[in-house]
Amino acid sequence: MSKVLVFAGSNSKASINKQLATYASSLLKNTEIEVLDLNDFPLPIYGIDTENEFGVPKNARRFVSLIEGADGIVLSLAEHNGSYAAVFKNIFDWMSRIEAKVWRNKPMLLLSTSPGVRGGSGVFASAKMAYPYQGGNIVGEFSLPSFFDNFRDGKVTNGELNEILKSEVLKLDRAL
Ligand SMILES: Cc1cc2nc3c(=O)[nH]c(=O)nc-3n(C[C@H](O)[C@H](O)[C@H](O)COP(=O)(O)O)c2cc1C
Repeated sequence: MSKVLVFAGSNSKASINKQLATYASSLLKNTEIEVLDLNDFPLPIYGIDTENEFGVPKNARRFVSLIEGADGIVLSLAEHNGSYAAVFKNIFDWMSRIEAKVWRNKPMLLLSTSPGVRGGSGVFASAKMAYPYQGGNIVGEFSLPSFFDNFRDGKVTNGELNEILKSEVLKLDRAL
């Protein structure tokens, strides 16, 4: 059975991106799902001096091992000021010091959502542009606008958007 890592680029305990990623992963068939939380991987802020003095921290290595051991990834990015949330940028920077191709060519369903109508489209576009150079293999993509109008009780409530999400999830299913 394929194993898929599911996580959000957020450290919010109530992360709407974690909710979206978890729902999307529930639509996968015959897949073992492992939902991760960045709060379980605390790290110092990346800095070259910290790295030179202490090396790459264990929690960054743990996360890299999880990526290496997975068959696929469902990632939903939170948008802070048009870009990655600091916690996500930080773990990514640490992981990139182990191997620049952080995503190891694992098939990825890339998601984003926000309370606004653009649904995190800034961070979503950044990731789409950069990930091919960072070992990313985006096989499906979906951005959910206006989260609180379109998501309730763990599910996408807008029928049309839900159908689009399902078709993107299917692309990951087929790539596993
Ligand atoms: C510092 C900060 C900056 C934000 N900037 C944006 C933004 O640029 N675009 C946006 O759509 N939402 C923005 N938001 C709102 C987030 O989308 C919202 O907090 C969302 O819940 C974040 O996702 P999460 O719940 O998965 O952490 C911002 C929130 C914070 C705290």
